[in-house]
Amino acid sequence: MRQCEKHELLFDITETQRGHYLLVMILPRSSLFAFLLFSLLLLSLTVFVKKWHFGLQEKKPFGDAARADGSTPAHHSLDKQLQERQQELELVDIAFLKIKSPDGFMDSPTDHSVNYDYRKISLDSTAKADIGCEELNGVKAVDFLGSGYTKKVMKAAMPEGGFVAMKSVNHQGIDMRLCVEDFQDSQGCQELVSFKLKKEIMLLQRLQHPNIIELKGQCQDSSVVGGITAVLEQGTPLQMIHLLQSPWEERFRVCLGLARLLKYLSHSPLGSVSLLDFQPRQFVMVSGEIKLTDLDDATIKEPSCQEDSDCLLQFPSRNFTLPCSSSGTCEGLNEMRNLYNAYRYFFTYLLPHQAPLLLKPLILQIMNATGDLKLSTNQTLIAFEELLHLYKSGLHLENLPSSIAKDYAVLKGVQSAGNVEYRCWPSYRQHGCVLSVHSAREAALICSSHPDCTSFSLSSQHTTWTGRLLASFRSGYSHLLPDVHSAVYMRRVKASGAVL
Ligand SMILES: *[C@@H]1O[C@H](CO)[C@@H](O)[C@H](O)[C@H]1NC(C)=O
Ligand SMILES: *[C@@H]1O[C@H](CO)[C@@H](O)[C@H](O)[C@H]1NC(C)=O
Ligand SMILES: *[C@@H]1O[C@H](CO)[C@@H](O)[C@H](O)[C@H]1NC(C)=O
Repeated sequence: MRQCEKHELLFDITETQRGHYLLVMILPRSSLFAFLLFSLLLLSLTVFVKKWHFGLQEKKPFGDAARADGSTPAHHSLDKQLQERQQELELVDIAFLKIKSPDGFMDSPTDHSVNYDYRKISLDSTAKADIGCEELNGVKAVDFLGSGYTKKVMKAAMPEGGFVAMKSVNHQGIDMRLCVEDFQDSQGCQELVSFKLKKEIMLLQRLQHPNIIELKGQCQDSSVVGGITAVLEQGTPLQMIHLLQSPWEERFRVCLGLARLLKYLSHSPLGSVSLLDFQPRQFVMVSGEIKLTDLDDATIKEPSCQEDSDCLLQFPSRNFTLPCSSSGTCEGLNEMRNLYNAYRYFFTYLLPHQAPLLLKPLILQIMNATGDLKLSTNQTLIAFEELLHLYKSGLHLENLPSSIAKDYAVLKGVQSAGNVEYRCWPSYRQHGCVLSVHSAREAALICSSHPDCTSFSLSSQHTTWTGRLLASFRSGYSHLLPDVHSAVYMRRVKASGAVL
């Protein structure tokens, strides 16, 4: 019964949040009213944003991650539950060894992310993870980042500089409280609650990808850090509201990161991994790149089946039935669950909105195919990489009028000073109009379409993650300063025909 209440609460928040996304998307641009409304929204959001940090708000006190059929367990004794958790961990190991064994199949050798030796990454001695109990001994937590039913996350400063996130069991969390209420055994409960974190550490050791948070170390010695602790790369919580306000290029980066992650998860060293709770709060951002940070709700087993109708994928607005394979498993179910979740939580909000006009047909194709689950994760990634290629190469701009460049006089080796800025949306800089462009020609086209724009600068020193240039548009400046990396383009003729 307690579980039901929690489900409802979470559902409510999700629906409210969805409302917010839509509102943000339809707000009229640059109107003061919209700006105020948005500030209000942000204010109301910050109240619960903290809880969403690091995906700490799990759905169930003891997530039935390995229980792919989603059945609710009967009331087990604590011992029984401990045994089950242990088996869950062993399952992860078995899956890993099976795939790594010489008789099993191996991932392609070109896949850089799987070249490591199992022995080096067993639970107690990690290969890459060089932060251990000893190193953690002197580390001080400097900030509280968030907490949830099971875990809490602290920001910690490393002695050699830099920050990490330290995840440990939340002794004040709901998981712990409910367990102690039920079993009056705080030692046993601590062990039970620790399993989620143990599983997460095991998965992080075996799943390594640029879009999965890096495990920097761990310690399981309670005399040192008070229980099991995972040391993670530090990220910032992913906020959809913030992303919706970002340039398309940054939103595309998030979707591409997800597409790459999903392909990896479908062919991971553990087999096909599915995230049962696939929502923005399971992810963080690290320097503009999306990274999965919460893995304890991952499942590595695909359900067994007798007929196709056993392989049902249910979502609130859509159901899918997958074929039951001859070996009696719902092959591809994990992959498709991830893909549809990526579609409904991320792609629909982030990808089509404000996309470059000439990329829209390809984007609509991707949206249509993922929304109907017509493509595998491999094929989806191919489509995304094609999008990236087009965008980077500027091929989608080939039809720009070349005459546009004639409307501008260029001064190389200078930058403007005493600028008179105007705002545009979505700008890389808050006070001013800074947009990414492929070339001076694209920038000229943009300047000509902004009534306030009289000049723009391009600097070879500032590029975006795709390598596009950052152009800064303005309505005036007072003088020019020498700068070898910069060029200033002045508009000769305003739309009114007046010569500057
Ligand atoms: C999905 O399937 C469930 C169970 O069969 C059914 O109750 C629900 O109405 C279906 N939803 C949609 C959107 O078709
Ligand atoms: C994809 O396109 C087909 C054909 O136009 C349409 O029937 C279908 O509803 C679209 N699916 C999605 C998810 O947009
Ligand atoms: C998808 O890509 C993976 C890894 O590159 C490969 O092992 C697998 O065979 C591909 N699957 C299909 C259906 O092409």
